[in-house]
Amino acid sequence: MLKTLNNSFLLISITILLFSHKAYSQAKSYESQTDSIISLMTLEEKAGQLNQISSGLGWGPVIKQEDLAEQKLLVKEGRVGSFLNAIGVNLTREFQKVAVEESRLKIPLLFGLDVIHGFKTTFPIPLAEASSWDPVAVEKSARIAAKEAASSGIHWTFAPMVDIARDPRWGRIAEGSGEDTYLGSVMAEARVKGFQGNLNSAENIIACVKHFAAYGAAEGGRDYNTVDISDRTLREVYLPPFKAALDAGARTFMCSFNEIAGVPSSANRYLLTDILRGEWNFTGFVVSDWNSIGELVQHRMAADLKDAARLALNAGVDMDMESRAYVANLPEFIKQNKINIKDVDEAIRRILRIKFELGLFDNPYKYCNIESEKTNILSKENKEAALDVAHKSIVLLKNNNVLPIRKDIKSIAVIGPLANSKSDPLGCWAALGNPNDVVTLLEGIKHKVPETKVRYAMGCSINGDSKEGFNEAIKIAKESDIVILTLGEEGNMTGEASSRSTIVLPGVQEDLAKEIYKTGKPVVVVLMNGRPLSIQWISENVPSILETWFLGIQSGNAIADVLFGDFNPCGKLPVTFPRTVGQVPIYYNHKSTGRPGIAFVKFTSKYFDLPLTPLYPFGFGLSYTKFDYGKIELSTVQISPDGKLTASIDVKNIGNYDGEEVVQLYIRDDVASVTRPVKELKGFKKILLKKGETKKVEFEIEKDQLAFYNKDMKWNVEPGTFKVFIGTNSEDCKEASFKVTD
Ligand code: NOJ
Repeated sequence: MLKTLNNSFLLISITILLFSHKAYSQAKSYESQTDSIISLMTLEEKAGQLNQISSGLGWGPVIKQEDLAEQKLLVKEGRVGSFLNAIGVNLTREFQKVAVEESRLKIPLLFGLDVIHGFKTTFPIPLAEASSWDPVAVEKSARIAAKEAASSGIHWTFAPMVDIARDPRWGRIAEGSGEDTYLGSVMAEARVKGFQGNLNSAENIIACVKHFAAYGAAEGGRDYNTVDISDRTLREVYLPPFKAALDAGARTFMCSFNEIAGVPSSANRYLLTDILRGEWNFTGFVVSDWNSIGELVQHRMAADLKDAARLALNAGVDMDMESRAYVANLPEFIKQNKINIKDVDEAIRRILRIKFELGLFDNPYKYCNIESEKTNILSKENKEAALDVAHKSIVLLKNNNVLPIRKDIKSIAVIGPLANSKSDPLGCWAALGNPNDVVTLLEGIKHKVPETKVRYAMGCSINGDSKEGFNEAIKIAKESDIVILTLGEEGNMTGEASSRSTIVLPGVQEDLAKEIYKTGKPVVVVLMNGRPLSIQWISENVPSILETWFLGIQSGNAIADVLFGDFNPCGKLPVTFPRTVGQVPIYYNHKSTGRPGIAFVKFTSKYFDLPLTPLYPFGFGLSYTKFDYGKIELSTVQISPDGKLTASIDVKNIGNYDGEEVVQLYIRDDVASVTRPVKELKGFKKILLKKGETKKVEFEIEKDQLAFYNKDMKWNVEPGTFKVFIGTNSEDCKEASFKVTD
């Protein structure tokens, strides 16, 4: 029908558009400019605007891989609206030039990439950063990642990943902020603010919140697997971090691979249209995940790719990442009236809106500056920020007087397969992270104590079964005053398609730990891993344990600072550590059940062969100093459903070091019309206490922290008693009660 447009009108309009990109910005609003562009588009150009292809190899089945010349031709013909994996000022400029100088409508391209925890300056993996419980540091990390990526021509990151994950088998737990909805929401907000900031500047990039939704609830922790959760769980546990990201300004969403209760997200109108646009008023656009529209066929919801395209568009997926379903089918559908052209126009409108917001119509080369590419990347300032977050991400799990180590120690044995690894500390999704930029733990230690004799032995590989290296490791352990034993996973054992059926240390690492322990030398285990591990033996026997996750390029420096007391650890676990994989799913904010578990008591909810508790609870993390919590003081013990109260507590540093503590607030609704979790995190504050110092920490408690979806799925506060818990982790808390009146 557009083809019937009067030709001379078309010509005049195109000439106006060609005249100058400035013309676009001079008009009053993006919306009217968008409408005029849409009115000029052919059906093929419309479908093309919704099409995103990968320039390089990506993560997923390759549907089609054109060479550079073919890709440019597609751009010229208006058959591509966006690229992923096109990196670097030169390449993005080349593509953009074709788009804005050679294609008929001159619509600029949008370049997206997975900038998850740094671009070239690799920061700690997101799960590690969440252990900092420090949204300011996390926002800064995202801002630097954005600035570096923007300097390299990238407009858009496929981050933050805000999926709640209660199953450590799921490899993608490493990419998110752990098991908790509140902490996850705080981190989501921080990351969106960091990436997006002020879009007028060429140092910020568009955030894409993913994976919408409930991807982390995959059955058995197996990636891409089925999800079947109630609407209540969806809304109470999995959706809030997405909403927090949206409230922080996130302009794009990515739908997930999984189905929820029978409907894959890419065809889920309830999620993408009713909730996201209807209830939440989202005005940005939704991109599919890699070939997730095409995979509607494998889900057996669509008979073929055509069917898949129709389902996805109707559900509300605006941009098709790599299935080529829209570009191949939409023009024909429109001609045959199989889909509503208004839906297509609306999807284009949403995408163009973002291109306008980024300023690409004013200056399509805004992000193509070879100078900033040279100066902004891996700068001294960026490396310092990476060190700061790395320090804060380390969690001290156990310390029986071994740490911190004196710097005048005579000799150290550094043992283990990860101690000298340059690549593993980068973790998964490291964008342009380069192993050569990583400071290993061995390097960090040597640099920290140059006078000390440092011996190194690998002992074994991460995942192999050979014990040949044990003898050498035992020998250097015996010859040294202390052993730093580095154990864990390969960097790529977490991330996409990296689920494990077990969460023990891979290979023969635990056997190595047992042999080293037998030498009788003081041992510190330094863990590097992307998921909670079940490390019962280590936890029971080894005197000191540091959880360091994958800390990025500053790994060795950050860990050495903690080992030798230049940084007092203050990280807290964002996820529960199970004793064994059989306890999974295990998370602190579980329900009571009708028969709450009681140790050794039959007919209660528990495993008879395991204690009730996890190995380390959510929120757990030690310091070199000790904190003493006073009594909770409430400003009142009775409020109305709309009322407020303040809970305060004195926290005193009673140890021998200055230190930071994350004071955590949990709340429980004692009796409600539907069952409620035993407790839920509702606030936290990170405070610095000098040795001997006391601080009063105050939390305001109000409606939003007390409300839940009642039996009619209405968000409200019910009268009755509530418990307040304040403490150092989810299990070790002081308690008080108050009442909400009718
Ligand atoms: C698939 C992953 O699920 C998603 O997180 C990522 O952003 C895309 N591939 C693009 O690389």
